Amino acid sequence: MAIIGIVAVAENLAIGKDGKLPWHYSEDLKFFKRTTSGHTVVMGYNTWLSIGKPLPKRLNVIMSRSRSIEYKERVLVLRNVDDAVVLSKYINGDMFIIGGTHTYRSFAHVIEKWIVTRIPETIENADAFMPSDFLDEFESSASEELAGGLEVQTYLRE
Ligand SMILES: NC(=O)c1ccc[n+]([C@@H]2O[C@H](COP(=O)([O-])OP(=O)(O)OC[C@H]3O[C@@H](n4cnc5c(N)ncnc54)[C@H](OP(=O)(O)O)[C@@H]3O)[C@@H](O)[C@H]2O)c1
Repeated sequence: MAIIGIVAVAENLAIGKDGKLPWHYSEDLKFFKRTTSGHTVVMGYNTWLSIGKPLPKRLNVIMSRSRSIEYKERVLVLRNVDDAVVLSKYINGDMFIIGGTHTYRSFAHVIEKWIVTRIPETIENADAFMPSDFLDEFESSASEELAGGLEVQTYLRE
């Protein structure tokens, strides 16, 4: 099973502002839900705070070097990427790296596939961005259009 990055990114590579998504596209949220349900999602501590609760029907892995999180069903805290890679070999299904910036960066070398929703906007004053080279070692493999016209592109490691 694969380790897959999944992100929605604006034209200026923005992905977040003030700890939140700087847009609301319900079709993309539905796409995210149907793509990741039944699998494992891995998120950084800031994204965990932003989401505010475990995503249903998924094992939720929260990355943090030192924080502890009150026990919740379906939630696991891991301290480093190596532990997540070990876990990925024992779970049923895929492991989706769901952000944010720090987490995408630290998992970049183990991600085998990217699923990228293109947000047709430029976000002023964004404070979270994708690295400009995040797809450098990947090639485009497929694209699909969501209802409402958003484009989702899939990239595989070369
Ligand atoms: N557009 C999208 O698709 C999308 C998706 C997700 C998030 N976002 C946005 O991204 C922004 C948040 O991004 P962010 O970079 O601030 O935060 P983040 O990646 O969610 O969280 C960062 C924290 O996660 C922990 N962490 C990350 N990598 C780790 C590793 N390898 N080992 C151990 N701990 C690790 C650290 O916590 P400790 O400091 O506790 O050690 C770090 O401070 C928000 O605006 C959010 O809305 C956008």
